[in-house]
Amino acid sequence: TIEVEKKEQTKGDFSAHKGQDICNASETSTNENNRTKSSKDAMPDKANVSAGISNTLKDGLEKKNVKKNEPTKPVVNIPVNRTKEVQEARLKLPIIGEEQIIMETINENPVVVICGETGSGKTTQVPQFLYEAGYAHGKGIIGVTEPRRVAAISMSKRVAMEMNLSEREVSYQIRYEGNVTDETKIKFMTDGVLLKEIQKDFLLTHYSVIIIDEAHERSMYTDILIGLLSRIVPFRHKKGNPLKLVIMSATLRVEDFTENKRLFKETPPVLKIDSRQFPVTIHFNRRTPQDSYLHEAYRKICKIHRMLPEGGILVFVTGQQEVHTLCSKLKNTFPINKTESSSQEKRKESRRKLNKNKERSVLPNINLDNFSVAPVDEEEEEEALDSDLDLGNLEEKGSDEVESSHAGSCTEPLYMLPLYSLLPSHKQARVFEAVPSGCRLCVVSTNVAETSLTIPNIKYVVDTGKVKTKFYDKVTGVSTFKITWISQAAANQRAGRAGRVGPGHCYRLYSSAVFNEFEKFSPAEITRRPVDDLVLQMKDMNIDKVVNFPYPTAPDVEQIKAAEQLLVSLGALSAPEKIQRFRDLKRGFLHKITTLGRAMACFPVSPRYAKMLALGHQHDLLPYVVAIVSALSVQEIFVENFKPSEEHEKVEFTKKLEHMKAVKRLWAGTGHSLLLGDLMVLLKTVGACEYEGCTPKFCQKYGVRMKAMKEVRKLRAQLTNAVNSVIPNANICIDPKMSPPTDLKAKLLRQIVLAGLGDHVASRYPDVMPETNDGSEKKMKNAYQCPDLEEPVFIHPTSVLCKEKPHFVVYQNIVETSKLYMKGVVAIEPEWLPVFAPNHCIFSKPLDEPSPTFDDVKGEVMCHMKSTFGNCSWTLPAVELE
Ligand code: CDP
Ligand code: MG
Repeated sequence: TIEVEKKEQTKGDFSAHKGQDICNASETSTNENNRTKSSKDAMPDKANVSAGISNTLKDGLEKKNVKKNEPTKPVVNIPVNRTKEVQEARLKLPIIGEEQIIMETINENPVVVICGETGSGKTTQVPQFLYEAGYAHGKGIIGVTEPRRVAAISMSKRVAMEMNLSEREVSYQIRYEGNVTDETKIKFMTDGVLLKEIQKDFLLTHYSVIIIDEAHERSMYTDILIGLLSRIVPFRHKKGNPLKLVIMSATLRVEDFTENKRLFKETPPVLKIDSRQFPVTIHFNRRTPQDSYLHEAYRKICKIHRMLPEGGILVFVTGQQEVHTLCSKLKNTFPINKTESSSQEKRKESRRKLNKNKERSVLPNINLDNFSVAPVDEEEEEEALDSDLDLGNLEEKGSDEVESSHAGSCTEPLYMLPLYSLLPSHKQARVFEAVPSGCRLCVVSTNVAETSLTIPNIKYVVDTGKVKTKFYDKVTGVSTFKITWISQAAANQRAGRAGRVGPGHCYRLYSSAVFNEFEKFSPAEITRRPVDDLVLQMKDMNIDKVVNFPYPTAPDVEQIKAAEQLLVSLGALSAPEKIQRFRDLKRGFLHKITTLGRAMACFPVSPRYAKMLALGHQHDLLPYVVAIVSALSVQEIFVENFKPSEEHEKVEFTKKLEHMKAVKRLWAGTGHSLLLGDLMVLLKTVGACEYEGCTPKFCQKYGVRMKAMKEVRKLRAQLTNAVNSVIPNANICIDPKMSPPTDLKAKLLRQIVLAGLGDHVASRYPDVMPETNDGSEKKMKNAYQCPDLEEPVFIHPTSVLCKEKPHFVVYQNIVETSKLYMKGVVAIEPEWLPVFAPNHCIFSKPLDEPSPTFDDVKGEVMCHMKSTFGNCSWTLPAVELE
């Protein structure tokens, strides 16, 4: 279909549709009376409006040939009753003065790009402009996409409040929840939600305008949405029911959207919002600290606080745990006096009491407040996994500093606020509230404060220059979290936070030489991760030549190839029957989606897990498979990755870990149950949670992260529905008393898991390794080899199969810390490989059927595991199964 649209697009012209088109005549007349009042409301000073059109904006318009001579006045003006306070606050936003030109440009162009500094009012105001101009009162509503769930929820609430409308009218939809109604006029949603809607209704007929917000973040779904919308917009125009597209970015780097000729035939106009940014003085460190940037940040904040005039401080660190460590260090150094923090004290006291009471319970306590460190939201991965941080340095040096600071100082207290995406929203909202008198505000934040949220009254920014990013091996999918330098664009964004209220200062904890070596911009997400889920979704939308899709930034051909290969091996794609062009076949781009693939695409999980669901209907296994897949799809269910920073916590935590290990081992059981390994533990955890209730008590008892567990439960409900609607006669429900699988069922579950994870097989190296000169054979103890990896891998110490050391295993993923570790390990039998992972095997004799049965591969057929490296091919034992 994309092909067709492409042709149409070349023919179609982009002439603007006027305001009339979106509103019917009666609305126009009834609202006419309110117009004077309402436009006054939005733009109280006419002179201000024209003065507000900044030069950059005018330049931008002239350059882009916007039809400036024939401005269309908005014909309608839907009244909005804002309070006086809201109205006053709005008037301070730079974007308010640009309303007229923004609306004219949107009225006259199908696609418009709006760039404006963070805090200029894009997210909260542009939907309101469109609403007032009648875009939600015609054939469709206003849709706004956000890459982060937090933003979708908080912005919908904020806009509803500003407009004095209910949540029924300004609503949000994220993966599992939303408050959208028939009355909804403005809908905030995550980009993933809109992508799913396109799959159901390609023309997005419910919308009259789509705003893609935070496009500079270059999240994968945002990029794909822009690619799809570049085809939907001209198509809708042709159908006589135009759809407007507004792309909003916090940076000026939008050429990937505007200059990409494959995307928009006509370059869309770019509106630049003057941001009233005050000058920010940049201070580079003379030297870049080699090890502890956290300690360096700590010292810098102490210095700023003691020596510089009043003004809030904003510090950028990389993860949740760092935020807490630095916060508590600084809280100790510059404490708020007792009266002001008495409520905090009380809370602490009650927690102490609570803990004391629990000491008698079987398990050591986990304070979930402290342990909820790992990510839940897939879109928040950059802040995940704090386990690899070395905070040792900070602890030691930090305590010296604390003492010295106490010795001679009578500095005013620091009002410390943590900020990161997973912080509950009422705690996040504290950064918008007034600072207690006599205190200086100090916000310690991850990069959410870079563009998503604007904190008022910041004068000093301390920039560690670091960010935590998830890296994937594009082909093998091995993932690692690494702390890396940020891009120059990100550094400038961070510095900009200091100049919102007046001239500010940014202290960069690195040298200018290091800065010059930074990448100019952070790379688009799509170029950094495996795209198998994306390719499956696209094929399901009948976009067969995935490689030709109009990506703002295209992924590597190798990435797409690896994804297609995986999908072929899972049976989701098949080679076309008729090869039209040899070149296409050779490049492997003509794979078509199969019936199995279509079913798999209905499950909102990774294709590997979708395959397990598709197979699970046999032998009444489906409820188990749904539970396992739900748990596999949520990251970090157990708290074991937390690394306590305080000495007393360490002892406690080690005890806790040991206990958890024992519980897990107990849950794994024996026989096939044990061989189902970590997945059996997950299954039991899900079952126990359903049985005992997902309470803090349950989570504490078993060291489970409450937020993760809630997510698992939601996903389980969602998958249960999906399975019932996709698989004929599935008819499953969530049974709170799900009994553990029998030994036979556990065995069948192992086979199903293998069918999904056939490319994640590893076999143990022989116990006696040939001796080498450098003694490296020692390192190979307990090592496994994988077909796609040259390096040896190991079973993660937290796995229940770590001691069992089965000969053949499949794993959920490999993470790289000190070594390559397999997590989510299940033991398999090698003779299952030709049957359940035939696409990963080479047979001595060609097999007729693409999915061989045990009979097919019995006896005379020899089978090797396919592998990328010659040294890693396994000969499977003769297959002897009934
Ligand atoms: O999208 P952009 O970064 O351009 O700005 P925005 O998110 O629309 O924010 C405009 C203003 O509203 C900022 O000054 C924010 O501080 C303020 N705001 C707020 O006070 N509370 C919120 N929940 C959201 C925004
Ligand atoms: Mg915004």
